[in-house]
Formats: sequence, structure tokens, C-alpha cells
Amino acid sequence: MPIELYRDRQHACLMFCDLIEEDGQAVQANQFLIVDGDTGAIIDPGGNLAFNELFMGMVRHFAPARLSYVIASHADPDIIASLDRWMSSTQARLVISRVWERFVPHFTKAGKTDARIIGVPDAGGRLPLGRNELLLLPAHFLHSEGNFHFYDPVSRILFTGDLGASMLSGAQAAVPVTDLAPHIAHMEGFHRRYMVSNKILRLWLQMVRPLDIAMLVPQHGAPIQGRAAIDAFFDWLEHLACGIDLFDQRAYQVSTALIDPVSRLTRAPLRAVNG
Ligand SMILES: [Fe+2]
Ligand SMILES: [Fe+2]
Repeated sequence: MPIELYRDRQHACLMFCDLIEEDGQAVQANQFLIVDGDTGAIIDPGGNLAFNELFMGMVRHFAPARLSYVIASHADPDIIASLDRWMSSTQARLVISRVWERFVPHFTKAGKTDARIIGVPDAGGRLPLGRNELLLLPAHFLHSEGNFHFYDPVSRILFTGDLGASMLSGAQAAVPVTDLAPHIAHMEGFHRRYMVSNKILRLWLQMVRPLDIAMLVPQHGAPIQGRAAIDAFFDWLEHLACGIDLFDQRAYQVSTALIDPVSRLTRAPLRAVNG
């Protein structure tokens, strides 16, 4: 069952957080449905694992032909691998960074995306949805080269894709975080490796700090709710070293470690070739 992040008479934001098998190998992921009147948008629909239930959840609110957009923060498999099925089952347009516009047709059968991709320029913009609109905010390199976040002025929710992701179960992801300190351990390893640099985090913070945000909702793990927790998250990012900040020559050596195809483990190297 989806979680209602927001609802009024005209507008709703729903989060699906348990469509991926808990005992499977795929990372937990959230998918989102925004309803505005008799239309709506899907944000980051994910892969084929999530398609059926997400589609069924959508048709409870409006007919498939009324889906305005499939909106993708970037082009990773956990974001948009189900694209062929969405393009086949609806008339929605795909909204994605121009950086990925010519790559995503590889997810579909020939011709499925013809005249249906809205390639968003790097600066982003305002996207009409029903009687309202969504703000498409630049979030490039957090983590993908062409990456957007989505701000819904009605619910005051900021959808942040992989930024703010926490490694949790589907049940844990359903409970919003209001005290950030104990939550950092679930986010830290992921952000250090997947986010590109502290410089980019600070540029992003300059842009989003003035926004009126009730809830910050990532694509993995739990939402971060309330001004105190959101400000604490921003303060944590401001001082986080990540990505290329942490890489030096030690990460770029020719390794002699043996990758054993039977055990699927990598054995420690005897010595580095140029070490
Ligand atoms: Fe990603
Ligand atoms: Fe992701």
C-alpha cells in the first residue's frame, strides 16, 4: 500500500516503498505518484520489479490515458528501467535531462519514445501539471551528470532522487525521520561514494536553502520531515567530503587481485603491478 505524503481535495503525493522484494538482491527503492485533479505524474518509476503494483496504484486515481508524465531524476536502472512498459501502457511523455535524452530509447522497443521525450535543459524550469506545476531543479552530479530534483509547491515536498538516500528496509522507509543524528549512519557510506564532491553539495545548498520545504523525500529509504531535520541534513551535507574529494592515486593502481568467478569473491592482491 502506498504512503500518503500529502493529500487535499485536488492534490496528492503518494510514495510506494515496498514494491521490491525484501529478500531480493535489488536495493530498496521508492516510487512516487503525484495526483492533481484527474491527471498526474509518476516520478522515478523504477524497474520492472515495481511496474505492476505502481500501475495498479495509479489507475485507482485516474485512467492510464490521463497520465501526463513519467518524470525521471536521471537514467539509472532503478529509476527508469521500466520505461518500455510505461511508454506501452500510457500516452505519457518522459521528462528527463537532455544529457540522457538520446540514451533512454535503449530501454524501449524501437519507436516507443518518438516525439514523447521532453529533454530538460541543464537550468531546469517549471513543468505544468494539472492546475499546478512542478519545479525542476538542477541537481547535476548528485550523483548523475544530468540530474534533476522536483519541488511540488502544493505539498512543499522536495523529491531528491539519490540525494538523502538511506539504506533501509521497505518498512523502515515508510517512517519519516524527524531526528537526523541517528539517521546519518544509514546515509553516510552511500553519500561518500555516490555523490561527486562537496563543491557540488554546497552549490546545491545555496539553491535549496531558501525554499519552503515541509519534507525532503529521497528515492531510497525514509523521508526527512520538518524544518529541524531538514536543516540538520543541509548542515551535514555542507561539511561532507565525498566522491572525488576522497579519491587519490591509491584508487588508481593496476591491481593483481583475483576475481574468482566460482565464489564470486575478489581475493586480496599478491602485489600491485606498479606498486
Ligand atoms: Fe542513481
Ligand atoms: Fe537510486
